[in-house]
Amino acid sequence: MCSIIGYYGKDSAAPIIVKGLKRMEYRGYDSVGVATESNNKIELKKGIGKVNEVNSKIQLDSLPGKIGIGHTRWATHGKVTEFNAHPHPSNSGKIAIVHNGIIENFEELKKQLEDEGYNFKSETDSEIIANLLQKHYEKTKNVKETILKTVSEIKGHYAFVAMFENGQLVAAKFHEPLIIGVGKDDFFLSSDVLGFIEFTDDAIYLENGNFVILEKNKFQILDFQGEHVKYGITKVSKEFGDVYKGDYAHFTLKEIHEQYETVLKAGEKTQEAIEKTANYIKHAKNIYITGSGTSYNSALIAKQIFSKYAKIKAEPIISSELQFSPNSIEENSIIIAISQSGESADVLDAVRIGKESNCKVIAIVNLMTSSLAREADVVIGMNCGPEIGVAATKSFTSQLVVLYKIVQKLTDNKVTINFEKFSESVLKILENPTKIKKIAKVLKDISDIYVLGRGINYPIAMEAALKLKELTYIHAEGIPGGELKHGPLALMDSNVFVIIINPNDSTYSDTLTSAREIKARGAKIIGVSDIESDVYDYWIEMPKIDQVLYPISEIIPIQFLSYYAALEKNTDPDYPRNLAKSVTVK
Ligand code: G6P
Repeated sequence: MCSIIGYYGKDSAAPIIVKGLKRMEYRGYDSVGVATESNNKIELKKGIGKVNEVNSKIQLDSLPGKIGIGHTRWATHGKVTEFNAHPHPSNSGKIAIVHNGIIENFEELKKQLEDEGYNFKSETDSEIIANLLQKHYEKTKNVKETILKTVSEIKGHYAFVAMFENGQLVAAKFHEPLIIGVGKDDFFLSSDVLGFIEFTDDAIYLENGNFVILEKNKFQILDFQGEHVKYGITKVSKEFGDVYKGDYAHFTLKEIHEQYETVLKAGEKTQEAIEKTANYIKHAKNIYITGSGTSYNSALIAKQIFSKYAKIKAEPIISSELQFSPNSIEENSIIIAISQSGESADVLDAVRIGKESNCKVIAIVNLMTSSLAREADVVIGMNCGPEIGVAATKSFTSQLVVLYKIVQKLTDNKVTINFEKFSESVLKILENPTKIKKIAKVLKDISDIYVLGRGINYPIAMEAALKLKELTYIHAEGIPGGELKHGPLALMDSNVFVIIINPNDSTYSDTLTSAREIKARGAKIIGVSDIESDVYDYWIEMPKIDQVLYPISEIIPIQFLSYYAALEKNTDPDYPRNLAKSVTVK
């Protein structure tokens, strides 16, 4: 997935586009490009690297004109090369496009176009859109007809913006995000409100199967049958424009630090939705919880706490796996979909499968205007503010707080939780990373880390391993403590580090025994615990925290450890290689 942007207005387009792309860089950051229209001619620049790097090399923002398009790429079809970077011009150079998504039948269309004399410079699926548009425009000389013909031929999931030599901008949406920003004298077309929030907070969320034509201070929105559609303007929360690092070296560090506040805010603005959710859960036949990556780890924790505190059975399902066992969803159940972005294609697909079985959909999202939020029957907000670091940190702890709040309602508040006190304990962990920084230094040259936990601490171990992988590129694996002897013990030697998640709960003594077995094989042990032990080579001391919320806090030192180890390894913690924050392709 990628970010796309288009600008049509009274100001110089290129600097506005570059700014927007910088803000949306979390969506993909291996290459970047901008094209503008000036004097009925399309000018284009693109290069490999992050927005600022490429811009300082080739000055994307110096392109002339008041109309333009831009793109940051996360490679799917074709390597990271300048040719594969967007925008892609059509053969005549009279149309240029930026695209996010996947055109599934591109090989077939490419062959047809090649047979008709078109040639292709890139390995991307996207370039066919530019040439299809050219083909139809040359025949019809009509932008609307051109789009209708083009979208009737392409299959897949896409959002694209096309710029014509005469300065017309057109954008189409089909299962990839595309939002129109409506300013006073200008219009934006963007994958995310971050692309334009600085200029306007009036947004139109296009529906799937709609396209927009922008020309001279007016726009029209049509569907893929060519009919005009009704639309509404939504006011976007300005706080989502607050994407500055402040004094922090990285967004990831800032977002880790924000957690003592975000754990207090989670779900705060959507109390009613939490109550409604608890009600649905109480009466549901079956409860499925789905998500990807970090959000799936939250689903695993949800299963544990629903069962432990409310005696309610819930089944976590990895979103991308559901399509292979759709019969596992029973009719008239509920599906809780957890997603920070609300745009992960796998999660949206899982929800679609759930809906086909008449499930009620509960969304736990950070972005209340996201596709998932709009698909859901009930929407609970994580309310943790924009998360820019690609590896999820504060959104994970916010998701968990929301899940605990649901548990509170499920038990009619019999589970008492003091969130204020919890926030103070989180602050305590955040205030002193000195020891963690020292441990990060020793991880620098390690190639394998295992993270061990039992019970609820096992999904925390999974999330810890995910953070280490994403930020440090060290191979890391979460292991349920008891499984050690069923295989992983064979891997233990003096080159291995094992993090033991070992709170003073019912798992404590068994996990300590595992630690001793590991130590006997020469591996080094990092204990994350509120009790000291001689078995730990390094002890990350946890404060004494109320048992109910304690598991949430366990991830914070590992987020720190992953961050500082990333610095030691000279990797970019905010933008890990090959990853993107919101994966809108399957
Ligand atoms: C990507 C990110 C992960 C994230 C996952 C799910 O893979 O790199 O950090 O956990 O998407 O994202 P979501 O927005 O659906 O929670």
